Amino acid sequence: MDKERKFFLRRKIGVLYGGWSLEREISLRSGACIIESLKKQNFKVRGIDVDKNFTRKLKNIDVAFIALHGRPGEDGMVQGILEFIGIPYTGSGIIGSAISMDKIISKYIFTAKGIPTPDFYYKEHIDIDKIFEQLKVPIVIKPRAEGSSVGVTIVETKKEFEKALKKTLRKFRDLYFEQYIPGMIATCGIINEIPLPVLEIVPKKRRFYDYTSKYTHGMTEYIIPARIPEKKYKKVQDFALTAHKAIGASGFSRVDCVLDYNYNAYVLEVNTIPGLLYESNLPIEARAIGLTYDELIFEILKTSLMRF
Ligand SMILES: Nc1ncnc2c1ncn2[C@@H]1O[C@H](COP(=O)(O)OP(=O)(O)O)[C@@H](O)[C@H]1O
Ligand SMILES: [Mg+2]
Repeated sequence: MDKERKFFLRRKIGVLYGGWSLEREISLRSGACIIESLKKQNFKVRGIDVDKNFTRKLKNIDVAFIALHGRPGEDGMVQGILEFIGIPYTGSGIIGSAISMDKIISKYIFTAKGIPTPDFYYKEHIDIDKIFEQLKVPIVIKPRAEGSSVGVTIVETKKEFEKALKKTLRKFRDLYFEQYIPGMIATCGIINEIPLPVLEIVPKKRRFYDYTSKYTHGMTEYIIPARIPEKKYKKVQDFALTAHKAIGASGFSRVDCVLDYNYNAYVLEVNTIPGLLYESNLPIEARAIGLTYDELIFEILKTSLMRF
């Protein structure tokens, strides 16, 4: 048995899941899969549903496997608490987590690093005419800091825009507007600073990869490796790794992209804690290089080693 496995077999692992973001349900499902996998591998593991008093539940753990999606959890807050009380944890640190949760700051960084990202409008005052001057329809309305496609709407006309804007503003205060790129949806996971094969995502029944297509079996077709000509395929992996590093992520992540009809990639965002259900994107990508779900979970657990 390798040294690292022995190291973790002697430790108590707390899987942090739940939380109260809009992605709570997904986190519960990711958490259940991770716990099952760690138990199967004979690790001592306990699930910790993160609530406002969760620090009390951390007393008897040696390492935290963070399976929280959205805010708080994926945004550096939980990472900060763990650093403060001295518990090593998986994945990205405070800054990488905070930056990747903020899609506007992420886009500024992508641009500064020469990583293509769709053109966007973000201003304190929302001037609809200006938006329609700057961007062509379709336009994507997006919350600045959500995940799982929550709050994402694609609109074709000014009328649709106004209606969707009103509705979205009721739930999310901070929005931006992005140029819709027709073509392919693709994601590229990173593990230990190495890009995985690119996964092509084809929603079968919906306009885009929305919440329902993400989490309903059979609604989406996944193709791996993505059908992208070799040079452009390599570019997606390069952009993904550059984006991962640029926002300060570490250990693992999954970078979401869209490609135009000429296979030019645009990076949408970096997810520092991507979904980890058995059939989530990152596990599919890992499987494509021969890494089973259990092996992937162990790889992710090992990303905490740098914090011991
Ligand atoms: N600019 C865009 N062009 C085309 N599709 C987009 C664009 N932005 C978002 N989408 C669609 O919406 C989905 C979610 O967008 P993303 O930026 O990844 O946010 P989330 O954090 O909610 O996953 C994408 O997978 C894609 O299907
Ligand atoms: Mg995404």
